[in-house]
Amino acid sequence: MPKPSIAYRCEACGAEAPRWIGRCPDCGAWNTLTEVARLSRTHSGRTGADAHPRTQSAELININEVEGDREERHATGLGELDRVLGGGFVPGSVVLVGGDPGIGKSTLLLQAGAFLARNEPVIYVSGEESPLQVASRSRRLGLDCHHLSLIAETHLETIIPLIQKAHPRMVVIDSIQTVYSDRVESAPGSVTQLRESTAALVRLAKTTGAALFIIGHVTKEGAIAGPRVLEHLVDTVLYFENDLGSRYRIVRSVKNRYGAANEAGIFLMTENGLREIRNPSAIFLSSRLEGVSGSAVTVTREGSRPMLVEVQALVDDAQSMPPRRITVGTDPPRLSLLLAIFNRHSGQSVAGRDVFVNVVGGLRISETAVDLPVLLAVWSNLLDRPLPQDLVAFGEVGLSGEIRPVFGGEERLRESMKHGFKKALVPRGNVARQGLEGAGDLCVVSRLDECLKAIENWLTG
Ligand code: TYD
Ligand code: MG
Repeated sequence: MPKPSIAYRCEACGAEAPRWIGRCPDCGAWNTLTEVARLSRTHSGRTGADAHPRTQSAELININEVEGDREERHATGLGELDRVLGGGFVPGSVVLVGGDPGIGKSTLLLQAGAFLARNEPVIYVSGEESPLQVASRSRRLGLDCHHLSLIAETHLETIIPLIQKAHPRMVVIDSIQTVYSDRVESAPGSVTQLRESTAALVRLAKTTGAALFIIGHVTKEGAIAGPRVLEHLVDTVLYFENDLGSRYRIVRSVKNRYGAANEAGIFLMTENGLREIRNPSAIFLSSRLEGVSGSAVTVTREGSRPMLVEVQALVDDAQSMPPRRITVGTDPPRLSLLLAIFNRHSGQSVAGRDVFVNVVGGLRISETAVDLPVLLAVWSNLLDRPLPQDLVAFGEVGLSGEIRPVFGGEERLRESMKHGFKKALVPRGNVARQGLEGAGDLCVVSRLDECLKAIENWLTG
């Protein structure tokens, strides 16, 4: 055995120092360094419960001689979750599921675990809720959890042997903030505890082949550590998001060793748990009114999937000075910039007016493709002229009023045509070389004033 040595780790940011110092050299916090035992420098990250020194020497392997098929995948019964995982989960992989408290992480993983537990052993480690709470939730959701076992325990060194003995296909740790290891002196939820426990659980997954889903609450900065400090330890990182109390939930992959990152799955939180939304375009447009001004439809991309959404604007006489520019679902500083471009290049002005913008369904659009629809919605509400009901628009708007191309133009158009949108404003740079014939009534635009003229023509023509 290598000799244990002592290191010091900051409770606030996780930085390490070889000796105790009063102030963390990385984050500057005072008195946050605590002692951690480690086996040796060369085995860093292997200091947890079942760490063992390497005794054999490694050998070279030619990449072409590595045998085995593509990774085996298992479905979770939730197509949207499988999609973000890259087509189901891989045995022995470790997935971190982060999100605000109450967003639905436990519900999601209980549903996925129950699906698998119809045929294979699954373990749900609950450090937050009692077995009765978990069981009654599962009954209320009508889940058939035939082979699902619960461990109501937070002590890591007790949890690990139970899992090793049961040979589960999938393990859920709910949540990593409640788990603590004897090997570390600091409190559960501290950076040091999170890291040591996660590192030990990662080794457990790799040695047993069980897929591990680790739940981590995103916490307000400072108090306790959030899942961010664990991202580099795991194979896949999913974040569960929603905006403004909407019932829609988006699960995004921000890192995935077994699939594309930035993939997104969409769910609705219902009385009976999470329901997947396979056709988000239809859902997000379902409550759209006809013939109202201030509404524009755009195609945004969530991961690899194009999705239709409605952008609304309300322009009102300013109640105070300076006028308010408020947006929900798009980038706030960008709204001021877009309105300045609007004033300069549209022939209209919102000076002295309050402007409110909202993306319907509680979605958040961070790409610049939403620039053009935002300005069209503003134009429409300012003049009280409804846009054509079957018009879709996307494009970045530059400071000179130019319309710039966005990624994935053709897919966006295909998605809009699929949902019955016949008219589209398409940035010039997005038109493919072979043209876009047969795709409906397309107007290729390169400037904001051209877009407004095209709309006039559609409305009067
Ligand atoms: P939960 O999965 O416990 O969240 P997390 O584990 O991320 O903290 O979900 C909690 C919320 O979801 C709670 O406010 C109640 C709501 N909920 C429903 O609306 N329907 C349901 O079927 C379930 C199980 C929960
Ligand atoms: Mg929970």
